Amino acid sequence: MKKKNNILKIENLSVTYGPIKALRKANLEVNEGEVVALIGANGAGKTSLLKAILNIEKPNGKILFLGKDIISKSTDNIVASGICLIPEGHVIFSSMTVFENLQLGAYHNSYDFDKNLEKVFAYFPILQERSSQIAGTLSGGEQQMLSIGRGLMSNPKLIMIDEPSLGLAPKIVADIFEILSELNEEGYTILLAEQNAKKALECAHRGYVLETGRFILQGTSRELMNNQKARRVYLGGSV
Ligand SMILES: Nc1ncnc2c1ncn2[C@@H]1O[C@H](COP(=O)(O)OP(=O)(O)OP(=O)(O)O)[C@@H](O)[C@H]1O
Ligand SMILES: [Mg+2]
Repeated sequence: MKKKNNILKIENLSVTYGPIKALRKANLEVNEGEVVALIGANGAGKTSLLKAILNIEKPNGKILFLGKDIISKSTDNIVASGICLIPEGHVIFSSMTVFENLQLGAYHNSYDFDKNLEKVFAYFPILQERSSQIAGTLSGGEQQMLSIGRGLMSNPKLIMIDEPSLGLAPKIVADIFEILSELNEEGYTILLAEQNAKKALECAHRGYVLETGRFILQGTSRELMNNQKARRVYLGGSV
């Protein structure tokens, strides 16, 4: 079998906030075409890791994106090179319209604007219907869709998504994970941070379990689902 290209490789990555060690010498890899889950409880360091990749939080260690070290690059540069972050809490620009939010998503890549917009509207027809609506008046699920759509407007090579299930009803969570699986089938590579381990592992090929800044387990989703410790702590013994 052909070895998949490595998209992201993280080595010995640490993030500190004053005396707080949010991430301790983490190692992680994401290959082309994979969905990789980053699982961990509240405060485990998931968001810190995603922010470190974009240099929103300054890390120590090594981050290779498509083989190039990006650790000292600016956030703008990193985003322009093809990594997007869909932040936790479906953050949108609430006083702007749906369309204006999507336009902002294309800030670093305006070349294929029409093509990318068409793609986003195909995934999320509701965003086309509501394109002139003020984004803050959308439902929580629609805001999460807009947040994902905005990320897609940059035509990313790697999508990082932080807690897509946060604060959403189970039916909407199921829809969002379905969309992530569809995006992956279309060829998008995804790094998914989630507290909802069961949902994340159902969607992902592989996963890493983070506990107070350290990776304590990693493996294929099947291995993690069958792992006694992961089942007890993260999966409630329910799968
Ligand atoms: N700006 C900050 N200043 C100080 N400490 C921070 C800051 N951001 C995060 N932390 C601390 O770093 C640790 C990791 O937090 P982080 O937000 O990365 O975790 P998380 O896994 O994303 O949690 P959650 O599931 O609640 O989103 C926590 O102890 C948190 O309190
Ligand atoms: Mg977080």
